[in-house]
Amino acid sequence: MSNFKYQNQELACDQIPLRELAEAFGTPTFVYSGAAIETAYQRLTTAFQGLNTLICYAVKANANLSVLKRLHELGAGFDIVSGGELARVLRAGADPRKIVFSGVGKQDHEIEAALEAGIHCFNIESDAELDRIASIATTTGHIAPISLRVNPDVDPETHPYISTGLNTAKFGVPMAEAEAFYRKAASLTGIEILGIDCHIGSQITSITPYLAAIDKMFTLIDRLMLSGISIKHFDLGGGMGVRYENEPEFPLGALRAALEQRLNDRNLQLVIEPGRYLVANAGVLLTKVIHTKANHEKKFAVVDAAMNDLLRPALYGAVQEVLAVQEPMETGAHTIDVVGPICETGDFLAKDCSLDLKADDLIAICSAGAYGMSMSSNYNTRGRAAEVLVEGGQARLVRTRESVETQLALEIEHLDKPSTTEH
Ligand code: LLP
Repeated sequence: MSNFKYQNQELACDQIPLRELAEAFGTPTFVYSGAAIETAYQRLTTAFQGLNTLICYAVKANANLSVLKRLHELGAGFDIVSGGELARVLRAGADPRKIVFSGVGKQDHEIEAALEAGIHCFNIESDAELDRIASIATTTGHIAPISLRVNPDVDPETHPYISTGLNTAKFGVPMAEAEAFYRKAASLTGIEILGIDCHIGSQITSITPYLAAIDKMFTLIDRLMLSGISIKHFDLGGGMGVRYENEPEFPLGALRAALEQRLNDRNLQLVIEPGRYLVANAGVLLTKVIHTKANHEKKFAVVDAAMNDLLRPALYGAVQEVLAVQEPMETGAHTIDVVGPICETGDFLAKDCSLDLKADDLIAICSAGAYGMSMSSNYNTRGRAAEVLVEGGQARLVRTRESVETQLALEIEHLDKPSTTEH
């Protein structure tokens, strides 16, 4: 979180005090640092320099148009999982030839739109999906470039909800079925075989699961190539972990070393799909204490953000650091839970924090740039938070806070009673 630092006893994002942002834009607000996104992107490009690499940012991590635009300007392509994400990245100026389309359940209209846009590759996850894409491509007069997502059956050693590379998961196809899949793909009109891919999970902090997956994938690639199937790229997926608490720095150098010789010997392009790595530590969720309360020994700070804004603590038991916007004194801290106003005990943002908080204090939930806003909802008829991007010494609103009116506008009020029909 090096772009969020105390200066003059106040937490600031790239020198702009968060207190000023709260005054200007209200709370809760996600605040992103454009400079932090750029630093993370450059760390990746530097690590893979000299390898033929396509970085496709996983849009699901943070889909704000201004964030996408920023990444596009840095040279990123995109990993999308829906027609909605396709529309977003095209609006942000993406080059369709740098878009890969992942996901286990692509629908006809999404496939048609992606073919129409001329995307780089469909990451196919099943035989049924191969048939569907081939049929749509043939009837619409397109050739669909495809890659098969293989499930290498390795344990990514992360939270079970975000482990995808085990053979009990719904993702990909088993390695043993890959050859038959490619044989069939080669026989279909409307299909061009381009690559092979895997994605073993998210928030992976050790190199070990990647090494296991890479070993298995290259053994398979060699087998496929020997049998005459031409593979042009290897897509490793995303999953590179970040520091939320005291996780180690992700070992990019070791990952590069594991890939370099294998890729060069086979003249393969590398595709990676990082999401969290690029944006998590570029953002905080800025929120204000409504009041504090104590139930017996337990102390709570009830804040104006909640699980609808940041679901990770409730859903995964994720721990994200909390910083007081006013730099804390040495004394006065209590052990306190930071909770939202939603009617669920699961509505907490942080537990057992050592903070001295009172009504109207501002706090920042750290590492909220990934899977924060993108997983938010209107639960309890709460409007989604505002989003602010700090760039070049300026803070700009990049998404307006949702009002009750915008939520109600989609609902249809029937003034008449439905006529009753007998069954
Ligand atoms: N590629 C594919 C095919 C994916 O399914 C994902 C994430 C990524 C790339 C990007 O993974 P990343 O580099 O961000 O780890 N909501 C969870 C994370 C879900 C990840 C889903 N897939 C969380 O808040 O931890």
